[in-house]
Order: sequence, then C-alpha cells, then structure tokens
Amino acid sequence: MRPFIVAGNWKMNKTLEEGKALVREVLARFDQPPYGLVVFAVPFPLLQAVGALLSERPGFSLAAQNCHHEEKGAYTGEVSVDMLASVGAKYVIIGHSERRQYFRESHEQLARKVNLALSRGLTPIFCCGEPLSVRERNNHVSYVARQLRASLFHLSEADMCRVVIAYEPVWAIGTGKTATADQAQEMHAALRTLLARRYSPNTAQLIPILYGGSCNAQNAPDLFQQPDVDGGLIGGASLKAEEFSAIIRAMRF
Ligand code: PGA
Repeated sequence: MRPFIVAGNWKMNKTLEEGKALVREVLARFDQPPYGLVVFAVPFPLLQAVGALLSERPGFSLAAQNCHHEEKGAYTGEVSVDMLASVGAKYVIIGHSERRQYFRESHEQLARKVNLALSRGLTPIFCCGEPLSVRERNNHVSYVARQLRASLFHLSEADMCRVVIAYEPVWAIGTGKTATADQAQEMHAALRTLLARRYSPNTAQLIPILYGGSCNAQNAPDLFQQPDVDGGLIGGASLKAEEFSAIIRAMRF
C-alpha cells in the first residue's frame, strides 16, 4: 500500500541555527518513529546540517525544495540533483506553484527536473493545483490533469510509481483558506482515476497524493481521514514545532 507522508516545506525561512532548533524540537516530541513518513524540505544551505540530525531517526527524511533542470554547468546560483543527492536529500519538491508563478517554470522544465531527480534516486514531490479563477469556472480537475499530463505522463509505469504528488490549490496556499475535506477528496480521487487510466489501477493505488494549502493542526485530521488523501505538504504550520508535531500525529492509522 502507499505510504502516508507529512512533509514540511519551510520555503525561504529559518537560518541554520533556527532550523536545527526547530528539527530538534520536533524530534524531541517523538520517542517512537511516527506513523508514516515525515519529510523536512529545507533551504539548500541547511540540507546537510538537518540531514545529520535526521540520520539516526527512522521515519524522518530530508528534502530539497527545488533543483535545476540541467545536470550541471554554467548556471550561476543554481543547484543540481547530484549536489542534492550528495548531501543526503532523498526527496525534492518540483513544480511548487511559487516556482511556477515567480520563476516561470514551464511544464517542460518540470518534466526534465522529474527525470533528473528519478535518475539520481531522488523522489520527486510533484506539486499541482489550480488558481482561484479556474476553480470558479469549475475547470479545476481538467487544469490539474493537464499539469500531470504535461510533466509526468511521459514516465514509464515503474518510474511513475516512484513519484509523490502534492495537490495544492493555489488559492489555499498561505491564505488561511483551506480546501474543504470534500474538495480535496474530489480532486485526489479524480487524479487517482486519471493515473489508473494512464497507467493501471494498481499503480494508481501505489502513488501517494498529499494535500497542501493552509493545512494546520485543526484541519489536518479531517483532511487526512479522506480515503484518497495520503498526507500533507505543510508550509506555514511546519515552522512551529508544536503545530507540525500535531499534524504528524494526525496521520491516520
Ligand atoms: P501553506 O503552504 O501551508 O503555508 O499554505 C503550503 C505549501 O505551499 O506547500
């Protein structure tokens, strides 16, 4: 069966010392490995130090928030998947709506990032989600389906089974406006049907689909109860140890 995952996306927050303190505080709250998997997606300069804190802790893992779509070369300021793998990252967020919006990342670039990540053994956490105007026109499912088709559906079935999908409606990110559990379930079920059609029902059942967008300790239990919601990608609420730990505990049994 697919794993349950709670991933904290720190975005451009936390210095080295602040980040280490936050991870230590979260870890101190768990004597036993958590149910499911907890991932910390931290800024590049913090990867190695946070990875060292997580190394002896089963159930906790390390992610980067982005990678470049070329293997290496003259791309000043960019970071390659090889570099991420070399400092212990196991996951990489690809296609977050902030990257699509502020950095104009195209479907094609995202497909190349996914390919590179998989080729180096990293698990892509592939983000998708519709802006408000699209939801208001009731086109949200076809919009998100297109994002998957454009950047993921070239993958072989074996590679697709190594991808994690995160559905993050753009109107819910950082706004305090969460999708209702029903809205999340509707989209997640639609994506699973799409995966079943493109690949197979079996593969569709193996791929975790996380929800992201103003997920917090209050609404996580309800969202995580949904049959097709396999965890969360958490922004703001992952920056506070107590809140993030409560979300981790909301992972269902
Ligand atoms: P948020 O961000 O939880 O702060 O809304 C989620 C995300 O962007 O991954």
